[in-house]
Amino acid sequence: MNFKDIGRNIFKKRSLDELIATSKSSELKKTLNVFDLIIIGIGAVVGTGIFAIIGAAITGNAESVGAGHAIVISMILAAVACVVPALCYSEIASMVPVAGSAYTYTYATMGEFMAWMVGWILMLEYAIGNITVASAWSGYFMQFLKGFKGCLPDFILNIPIWLRYDYRAIYSMCDKYGWDIHDKVPFLFDKIPVAVNLPAVIIVVVLTLLLIKGVKESTRVASIMVGVNMFMILSFIIIGSHYVKPENWTPFLPTEPMQGILMGTFTIFFAYIGFDAISTAAEETEKPQRDLPVAILGTLVICTILYICVALVLTGIVPIDMIDITAPLAHAMSFVGKDWFAGLISIGALCALTTVLLVYQLGTTRILYAISRDRFLPRSWRAIHKKFRTPHIMTLISGFAVIVCGLFMDLKISADLCNYGTFTSFVIICLAVLILRRTNPDNNRPFKVPFCPVVPLLGILICLVLIFFSLNTLKTSSSYFVIWLVVGVLIYIFYGYNQKRIGEKKRS
Ligand code: ALA
Repeated sequence: MNFKDIGRNIFKKRSLDELIATSKSSELKKTLNVFDLIIIGIGAVVGTGIFAIIGAAITGNAESVGAGHAIVISMILAAVACVVPALCYSEIASMVPVAGSAYTYTYATMGEFMAWMVGWILMLEYAIGNITVASAWSGYFMQFLKGFKGCLPDFILNIPIWLRYDYRAIYSMCDKYGWDIHDKVPFLFDKIPVAVNLPAVIIVVVLTLLLIKGVKESTRVASIMVGVNMFMILSFIIIGSHYVKPENWTPFLPTEPMQGILMGTFTIFFAYIGFDAISTAAEETEKPQRDLPVAILGTLVICTILYICVALVLTGIVPIDMIDITAPLAHAMSFVGKDWFAGLISIGALCALTTVLLVYQLGTTRILYAISRDRFLPRSWRAIHKKFRTPHIMTLISGFAVIVCGLFMDLKISADLCNYGTFTSFVIICLAVLILRRTNPDNNRPFKVPFCPVVPLLGILICLVLIFFSLNTLKTSSSYFVIWLVVGVLIYIFYGYNQKRIGEKKRS
């Protein structure tokens, strides 16, 4: 094989007409309406970001200052960074209502290599993002258990920290509080630290088994939970607003305004991730052309309004330096003496985080399924369970990957990685719109991004600025991101590329 062939192969695209035909002949039941789609969207979006990460976005961390009260500006900026990709998703999803998200769209516009890389990067958003959600879930779960003091045995209420946190988190706690790490964590052969976030592992195992049993059961559970978490957030805003002291909102800007607001934007961006999950349900939507754009933009608007209200109430109640970074909303309620409501908030948070975990675990499996159908990953992973008719091996692998990677990453690093992955996929989706406008100008576009090409170019610019700004500031997660990209390229070179060619030979 010569370089010319290799060059041709890595840019080989799937035809758009073939994708549109696939979506038309899809056997999936078309039952979802705009309301269902918004429920899926809110289920995927509202979670760790607003229930946990908002604390770190406001207060900052060792590597950067936070946004302080200007978190409201960061939230608006993060929403703006999402609006353009949301418009682009809407245009493509209404034009090609086919499952597979950005991976499929990239295959049609930029060819095989970029498609594989986007699939690999989407794993950062979905699988690695799940590590963040699972560790936040664990934090809220332990808080929830405390409400049962007196009913539960002590060994459950006081689980040692090496069974509640990952090693990195314990290490930074030791640093912060001056503890000796050897007092807190057992070491195997005196060298290997043993630390496992057990509640996080358990919830991932339970959800993985639920997903193997069937998607229907899972989505039914999810819609009830979305109702509960919306109720809790609205109650937080209404009850909390009675305790807001406007003087708490000053000074409005952080000490280093530019850095604080941009870091806040990058960090809180995690709270918006997930609306693209709506496009994965394209083939199951009754009127995709009309409903997908409305649901995607609707979800974004609803979440932005809710988030801004939550941020105003939170920073209006608790002085910045006292905001809790693990469970800020529940802590805010305890701060004003409403312990009973703090307990209820933990229940809302657990529901929200569980739905996000479910949607993401499902998303991971669907994307990996599409990738392995194209032979970039072993075909045996796609096996369907005889009784439950679900891709059980793929689902198990996704669950296992979240658990193993969770041993090496804490909540913040996995959230940063997830943000890098999502920003990169947003850049790609904006590029895909620009390419499709050139290559397929006459295809029917029920929804069009306004002022093209200015708007998609603006989207690309905003995402790139945020990526490069944070690559510069967040040294640890940026090196993990680069390693992730290199591993992706190596898998393609040594496995995916050859498997794809073998598949092509067999077909011809
Ligand atoms: N937006 C999702 C969350 O905040 C990822 O958990």
